[in-house]
Amino acid sequence: MDRMVMHQRLSIFKGKRVLVTGDTGFKGSWLCVWLRQLGADVVGFALPPKRDNDHFNLLQLDQVIRHIEGDIRDLPALRSAFEQFQPEFLFHLAAQSLVRYSYEEPKLTFDTNVAGSVNVLECVRTTPSLRAAIYVTSDKCYRNKEWLWGYRENDELGGRDPYSASKAAAELIFSAYADSYFAQRQGLGIASVRAGNVIGGGDWAADRIVPDSIKSLQQRQPILLRNPLSTRPWQHVLEPLSGYLSLASKLYADPRGYSGSWNFGPRVESIRTVRDLAQRIVECWGDGKVEIAQQQPTPHEARLLQLNCDKAIQVLGWAPRWDFDRTVDITVQWYRDVTNGMAARQVTSRQIEQYMES
Ligand SMILES: NC(=O)c1ccc[n+]([C@@H]2O[C@H](COP(=O)([O-])OP(=O)(O)OC[C@H]3O[C@@H](n4cnc5c(N)ncnc54)[C@H](O)[C@@H]3O)[C@@H](O)[C@H]2O)c1
Repeated sequence: MDRMVMHQRLSIFKGKRVLVTGDTGFKGSWLCVWLRQLGADVVGFALPPKRDNDHFNLLQLDQVIRHIEGDIRDLPALRSAFEQFQPEFLFHLAAQSLVRYSYEEPKLTFDTNVAGSVNVLECVRTTPSLRAAIYVTSDKCYRNKEWLWGYRENDELGGRDPYSASKAAAELIFSAYADSYFAQRQGLGIASVRAGNVIGGGDWAADRIVPDSIKSLQQRQPILLRNPLSTRPWQHVLEPLSGYLSLASKLYADPRGYSGSWNFGPRVESIRTVRDLAQRIVECWGDGKVEIAQQQPTPHEARLLQLNCDKAIQVLGWAPRWDFDRTVDITVQWYRDVTNGMAARQVTSRQIEQYMES
């Protein structure tokens, strides 16, 4: 998708009412800034941010959008947000999003990612103003066969750990609602979207490689790697978000043509090891070193996982814009600029503009 096409597609959001669940999270906060830059009227619905330095707080996002503090497990509260705002677009991102934490809190993970998503779909069912909805799951919804090939949208679902199983379950529930209710509804397009590991400025979540690395570098400690040879499809947070926005604009214009499931992953060259990523972070930061942690028994984590994105490339005209090196450069630049005192809102907005112009 060239620049002109992207600008034209995303111009649909100007003046539109958009509801984002999970706006206090990493991806949700970037999405809300982008939607505001596109001129949308945005309401966010989520639990409070967890840390003082969360992207949401650094951006003072509650001054830029309307933020409703609420729990997606609470159907009446969620319904009331939909009823009051009457959104035309929905992006559902709220989730318990961490694999390792899901081993500690399986019930919380299933309650949030499965029952919470059912509540979201119930609200979709009863909100006639909605024209397009994006339902975010994960690349981990696929049964991981640890094979070399990328997973396609029609591959088998499954998950060994509670997080992955919760996302596979969320997909099955999505299909049931799509077939039972939305297929017959005129004027509503709805899609589930599956992306891989995203990186970018403003993420401080526990047990994620970029925040852990940046914290080590800021404290002048070596970056300690648990699973240096694990391979992941690294992509900048703006890449899948551009896919979600582009898909939502198409769903709005042609609901039947674009409803279904979509993968948004990076190019094959961005499928790199954790060690490659950490080394590139050190290069971009300009200082520091990488060490391998003593092997301790850790819960099972899938090793190799990649997405086949032919459908998004061919049908949607979407493609990743930033290669691996650029993705890491831009990410590290965000943390460096903010560490050096630049306002996060300015850094984030500038990176969104950079992305739109690249
Ligand atoms: N970050 C990644 O690498 C990645 C990869 C694949 C899929 N995803 C998916 O993308 C989505 C967004 O991920 P993220 O990285 O921004 O996650 P995050 O953990 O940074 O944010 C999660 C958001 O969900 C909200 N939330 C959690 N439980 C809630 C509840 N019960 N009620 C209301 N809000 C609740 C949080 O308040 C927060 O706003 C999630 O669905 C996640 O599973 C993320």
